[in-house]
Amino acid sequence: NAIGVQTASDASINGDREEHDLCNWDELKFSLIPTDYMYVMKCSSGEGAFSQGHLTRYGNVELSPSSGVLNYGQGLLEGLKAYRGDDNRIRLFRPEQNALRMQMGAERMCMPSPTAEQFVGSIKQTALANKRWVPPPGKGSLYIRPLLLGTGAILGVAPSPEYTFLAYASPVGNYFTGSMHFSVEDKVYRAIPGGTGGIKSITNYSPIYKAVTQAKAKGFTDVIFLDAATGKYIEEATACNIFVAKGNVISTPPIAGTILPGITRKTIIEVASWLGYQIEERAIPLEELMNADEAFCTGTAIAIKPVGSVTYQGQRVEYKTGEGTLSEILFRTLTGIQTGRIEDTMGWIVEI
Ligand code: COI
Repeated sequence: NAIGVQTASDASINGDREEHDLCNWDELKFSLIPTDYMYVMKCSSGEGAFSQGHLTRYGNVELSPSSGVLNYGQGLLEGLKAYRGDDNRIRLFRPEQNALRMQMGAERMCMPSPTAEQFVGSIKQTALANKRWVPPPGKGSLYIRPLLLGTGAILGVAPSPEYTFLAYASPVGNYFTGSMHFSVEDKVYRAIPGGTGGIKSITNYSPIYKAVTQAKAKGFTDVIFLDAATGKYIEEATACNIFVAKGNVISTPPIAGTILPGITRKTIIEVASWLGYQIEERAIPLEELMNADEAFCTGTAIAIKPVGSVTYQGQRVEYKTGEGTLSEILFRTLTGIQTGRIEDTMGWIVEI
């Protein structure tokens, strides 16, 4: 048993408190608030498939010091949200897309992955078991974080002999408040051709902390990474995709292995084209961002956020934000579908 779950009575620190005083719903940020349950499912050596999982109290996990994930970073993460609508119903948004992305990442990282049915079933159960933590309408959402980890012990550099799928949840507010102010990072690269930038590997994030921390110390919200091959084209930010708009044309970097295939990105491409915009997925030179009418970022955690400014080598450009902008229209449409205010004609919603 490479991963054990504490089931001690202290696991749920919030006991049986009523929904309204669980936490201050008006002050939610994107930070961890432990909830009641998490979901665990295992795949042992030789089985190749995940066996039936189960809910357990949220708590620490026990890992072998020689587990594949601790030693060699064999792990993937996902992120999706449960939204409470004005009708008090709780909706998940395109969870099967997260399942498919996890499968794609697992293939790249030599891991077995849950079937889409197992994945979506586990997310529904996690959301239901933590239902009282889904914030009231307009206050935030319940962020669900699935993980796929090489938990078997291994000393040599090789795939782990055992895997664990875990899903836990936390109520969250928005990742950033206001618009985003970027600096362009031209020394550190997030991904390389042939690397893992196109999957949600846990190893994609901490190597960029230094660049982002330095930018934050200078007052920026985040950084925009450039492509490692030429340093000429924009790729994405720390945890979100980027779009630029000029006239009626909205452009975003293509999915070619170095940027994350965001589910919000994919959704916005679809929504914007119904709304009559011309969408282009193509390499975008940095100058084009610097000359755009508007720019915005997309991601599960941030939904859609306008870019307020971009600074590159001392040159700062500002963009329009707020009422009437494209990002505001798209934000209203996206969140309308996610919360049930706008009819879901695409079958994107999974109600729990
Ligand atoms: C998300 O938007 O869900 C992400 O995964 C971004 C980040 C919090 C890692």
